[in-house]
Amino acid sequence: MTIRITWARAIATLVGLALAGLLFAWSGVFNIAASSGHWAITDWFLHWTMRNSVRTHAAFSSPDDPIDRSGMVSAAGHFANACSVCHGAPGVKPAPVMQAATPPAPNLAINAREWTDKQLFWILQHGVKYTGMPAWAVQDRPDEVRRMVAFVRRLPEMRAEEYKQLVGEAQPGRDLAACTGCHGDDGRGRGAVDIPILGGQRPEYLHAALRAYASGRRSSAVMQQVAMRMEPATMASTARQFSAMPGIGGTLPALPTQRVQPAQSAGTALAARIVAQGLPAKQLPACASCHAAGKPYPVIAGQRAAYIAGRLRQWHGDKNVVDARKSHATMPVIARRIPEEMIEPLARYLAAAR
Ligand code: HEC
Ligand code: HEC
Ligand code: HEC
Repeated sequence: MTIRITWARAIATLVGLALAGLLFAWSGVFNIAASSGHWAITDWFLHWTMRNSVRTHAAFSSPDDPIDRSGMVSAAGHFANACSVCHGAPGVKPAPVMQAATPPAPNLAINAREWTDKQLFWILQHGVKYTGMPAWAVQDRPDEVRRMVAFVRRLPEMRAEEYKQLVGEAQPGRDLAACTGCHGDDGRGRGAVDIPILGGQRPEYLHAALRAYASGRRSSAVMQQVAMRMEPATMASTARQFSAMPGIGGTLPALPTQRVQPAQSAGTALAARIVAQGLPAKQLPACASCHAAGKPYPVIAGQRAAYIAGRLRQWHGDKNVVDARKSHATMPVIARRIPEEMIEPLARYLAAAR
């Protein structure tokens, strides 16, 4: 007997299969217990599917420079705060309760080698569905993700001492115990390029920044992780303590009193002019009109140059605008009027103004 394939039969078969699937799901026979794990074949199939998906998506959507090795202090601290509970870390075991998940989070000292930098970037930025691997908590901070790629990349060679040194000593019981690992005992950010100097900053500004991180108005997965878990009173007291430390401050000249040598680059001279007078032709106001000492705006004189440049760039970019989307604050508008090639000279000039 030959069976002729007709449209009617094909459709009837598909409907039959769908009904059988529904019946199976409804019956409750399928075991979703995490304790039962996956069959080896399911495990292989899911991981194979994930690998293919990551490979394809990373090829199209990861940036061309997916890794930033310029400083791993904040990435290590964030890893300790947000990742080690599932993945463990050099010298640190993962929490047993997290390892009882299906699938359990892999040991990255082994698995990191399986991925290219672009693929790691994609996994960290987007997470992995159905596994518990979370996406980066904010989607507009590729700079944070790129630093984490550098950290994960290092894990296969990282010893426990190096990890401890990166994460920093926390002195339990102290108000600032949750901060000093990244910001240092002196609030100077342990020399890390992405961590601002807090000492000498206005306490109201530090306090407002903490509230903005906690509410998501200011984008940073690293600081959000810390700020969301702070009591309002601790926010105020830590802001006061850091602010009282020696650090930034100094005068931003209303007129360029900082001597600009003729030998200095044209960039420095123009930076001095932008700070003191702005660029009226570009409707760029003088930085000093708001940021000079004694005004109700954040202190930027003496701040770390790389951090200043980083923030200006985040506001500058069309695609990766950080704060502008969430508020109508003035600074993003101002930052976008700064000519791209002036960001670095301005940051260096401001950092040296003290
Ligand atoms: C709730 C637990 C959990 C947390 C928290 C978590 N992960 Fe994961 N992660 C997983 C699981 C589970 C996988 C496995 C996904 C898979 O293989 O399909 C994974 C996979 C990964 C991978 C890919 C490795 C591989 O071969 O599968 C990287 C890289 C990674 N995580 C890094 C991180 C970083 C960095 C953080 C912190 C920002 C983090 N994870 C936070 C559970 C977690
Ligand atoms: C894991 C590292 C890490 C820890 C822990 C950490 N910070 Fe931060 N902090 C950062 C980084 C990185 C930034 C810059 C974030 C950005 O780009 O907006 C920052 C920024 C800040 C700012 C904004 C300063 C400015 O000039 O705009 C404040 C305020 C702050 N941190 C306070 C704290 C306090 C208080 C604690 C402890 C309760 C703490 N931080 C713990 C890494 C950390
Ligand atoms: C009209 C007032 C105003 C002017 C003019 C101004 N700013 Fe700002 N600036 C602000 C405000 C307000 C903030 C705080 C923004 C926030 O945290 O969302 C800020 C923040 C900053 C920060 C981040 C400080 C930190 O600790 O994170 C930098 C860097 C900065 N401004 C640089 C500049 C530069 C460079 C100029 C000159 C080209 C300038 N600003 C001109 C109002 C101004």
